Amino acid sequence: MPEYLAALVAEYGRPEDVIRLASLPRPAPKPGMVDITVERAAINPSDLIPVTGAYSNRTVLPFVPGFEGVGIVSRVGAGVIGLKPGDRVLPLGASGLWQATLQRPAEWCLAVPDDLSIEQAATAYVNPMTTLRLIAALKDHFGGFAGLAGRRIAITAAGSAIGRMLLKTLSAEGAEVTAIVRSERTAARLPPLPGLLTLVTGQQPIGRDTVFDAVVDAVGGETGGDLLRHHLAAGGVFLQYGALSGMPIAQAMLSARPDVRFSFLWLRTFVHSAGRQALSNALSQCFDGLRDGTFASDIAATYPLSRLSEALAHQKAPDRLGKVLIDPRC
Ligand SMILES: NC(=O)c1ccc[n+]([C@@H]2O[C@H](COP(=O)([O-])OP(=O)(O)OC[C@H]3O[C@@H](n4cnc5c(N)ncnc54)[C@H](OP(=O)(O)O)[C@@H]3O)[C@@H](O)[C@H]2O)c1
Repeated sequence: MPEYLAALVAEYGRPEDVIRLASLPRPAPKPGMVDITVERAAINPSDLIPVTGAYSNRTVLPFVPGFEGVGIVSRVGAGVIGLKPGDRVLPLGASGLWQATLQRPAEWCLAVPDDLSIEQAATAYVNPMTTLRLIAALKDHFGGFAGLAGRRIAITAAGSAIGRMLLKTLSAEGAEVTAIVRSERTAARLPPLPGLLTLVTGQQPIGRDTVFDAVVDAVGGETGGDLLRHHLAAGGVFLQYGALSGMPIAQAMLSARPDVRFSFLWLRTFVHSAGRQALSNALSQCFDGLRDGTFASDIAATYPLSRLSEALAHQKAPDRLGKVLIDPRC
């Protein structure tokens, strides 16, 4: 049986210690499945969290990381309709993109339009769709599209890929947006949006008179806790979707604000409950956002999978500017 190159996690630990390259056998696709040659995969923070064992209750070892990437259907199993060899697809709903060949149920593979570049296609799903879900949750809280105009909304880790997508989307909807970042260097690289306010944490405390109607937080820990406790208006909403600080928001902070709504948003909840049509519609919105630049991601570098350790080191580098991609074919 032919073999192909894959990144494999056989034990939990630090990504740079436990993600190893392996040769895996390439069986023929089973009924209902398609074989995909993965052309580009992204490295996102959310790919590395399961490697640490954080979700060990729902992760089966060994596994191939990578929730996002684009590939070409190479073979189809019996009974597959709607996909054929040569089709370009995004395989959604499970990890496994950091390998040269992926086998996936056909219904989880969604077509990618030809006009998108390989880099756009490889970054079309996780961050744009998370942004769409966060915007939908804000609209839900404030009551519809018009509800976001004039709202004071703070975005933490605003220089991240999702942060930048949120800044652009919310500015376009007329919200009064504040980008919260941890360095002047990142502040200087934020998208030049009219009326965008910026706060740099750690330089000076946020003034007690600074209050938001909503906080969209990917940092957690002290930054998130302080915003929740002291800077969210009564009746406001705190949406957390990440914990880049490595720390949760302290229970005392949550308990101190019974007058606001707090929720943690998971993309996977939507992906696994929405149904194929809703997923396909959401992906179409992601593609539109890529075309008009709202969901564009800067690309820091692309590495062959055979140089995965360099790609992981670049992902961790404090001066990384954009997404690190992998070409699993080499
Ligand atoms: N809940 C979900 O379903 C879901 C889905 C997708 C992503 N996420 C989460 O969303 C977050 C952002 O993902 P992404 O792909 O947009 O990230 P990204 O593009 O890789 O950017 C992350 C950036 O955040 C900043 N950062 C890192 N640690 C920080 C800290 N302790 N405090 C403040 N800023 C910090 C850094 O920018 P500077 O060095 O410039 O400060 C870093 O480059 C991650 O936590 C990820 O796990 C959640």
